[in-house]
Amino acid sequence: MRIVSGIQPTGNLHLGNYLGAIRNWVRMQDELVSTGGDCLFFLADLHAISMPHEPATLSANTREMVAALVACGIDPDRSTLFNQAQVPAHAELQWLLTGTARMGWLNRMTQFKDKSGKNREGASIALYTYPVLQAADVLLYQATHVPVGEDQKQHLELARDIAQKFNNDFASEAAPVFTLPDPIIPPEAARIMSLRDGSAKMSKSDPSDMSRINLTDDADTIMQKVKKAKTDPEPLPSEAAGLEGRAEAKNLVGIYAVMAQTSVDAVLADFAGKGFGAFKPALGELLVTKLAPINDRFVELRQDRAALDAILKKGAEKARTLAAPTLNAAYEALGL
Ligand code: ADP
Ligand code: NA
Repeated sequence: MRIVSGIQPTGNLHLGNYLGAIRNWVRMQDELVSTGGDCLFFLADLHAISMPHEPATLSANTREMVAALVACGIDPDRSTLFNQAQVPAHAELQWLLTGTARMGWLNRMTQFKDKSGKNREGASIALYTYPVLQAADVLLYQATHVPVGEDQKQHLELARDIAQKFNNDFASEAAPVFTLPDPIIPPEAARIMSLRDGSAKMSKSDPSDMSRINLTDDADTIMQKVKKAKTDPEPLPSEAAGLEGRAEAKNLVGIYAVMAQTSVDAVLADFAGKGFGAFKPALGELLVTKLAPINDRFVELRQDRAALDAILKKGAEKARTLAAPTLNAAYEALGL
């Protein structure tokens, strides 16, 4: 079993990014590598140029994301951790696959419609073709499984269609060039809401820093932010159903449950009847305890540019070696 998964490099990482995305990778790595499978995780820096972007920010975010991933538990010795741009095979295979991908298939991609908005004519060509790059990202490594959220299902279907047509048109049944990857639906990721507004997602784009716990926040900052988090005056209920209609309370209890790796009902069993004066310090302590090791490593690593570059260089070397046979087979199959 081989899993390939990419993430867009972003800066200002927060608790939502950790619980909603990064932690799933760490789990996959820990499960898969211990059972003899392997994981390739990449920073999708080639994808990032499909939208308007600032070059200096992109390279800084790529390093920041690597620092966060390693601090959160991605082990570059057990997983292959790299950025697309350092593995030219991604861009090369993407071009080879554009001969097979059909205009009609890409025209059906709803993400392009969503992201290009009303200004279809002004969208970059990369925004239109990036599902083909995504196909290359996974086909290049003979991925057997690709974790996909609801919004990416259609793109994985496209990757399978491209692989199948390419195999049909250019390879024998006995020696297909590409493996058709199966989707794995990641365990339902926690959706973390803003500490200031229970109806808004915790996000780096929120102008108020008090709305989120950043992975760079120290213990005092975390305690302060939890203390100031918006709540209501009611005591906590004894069951999850009692949190309906209390968005802020629900969010804080939900954060406690995922951090303690337990259920909302189990948390409420401990805190039923108590107010936030009792709950908030407990939540703050829990966050500090769980995030302190991540925070220490992250803060140290993100300023060690040489170490981050070395991790990416080593990962790219591993990835290039793994990609070479498939890329060569694709060229050869096409008569190139
Ligand atoms: P932001 O909203 O801060 O801009 P991004 O859109 O860059 O975050 O998201 C990066 C990854 O983190 C995505 O996989 C996204 O699903 C996850 N993520 C971001 N915010 C949250 C959140 N509040 N709760 C859960 N997951 C989140
Ligand atoms: Na966002």
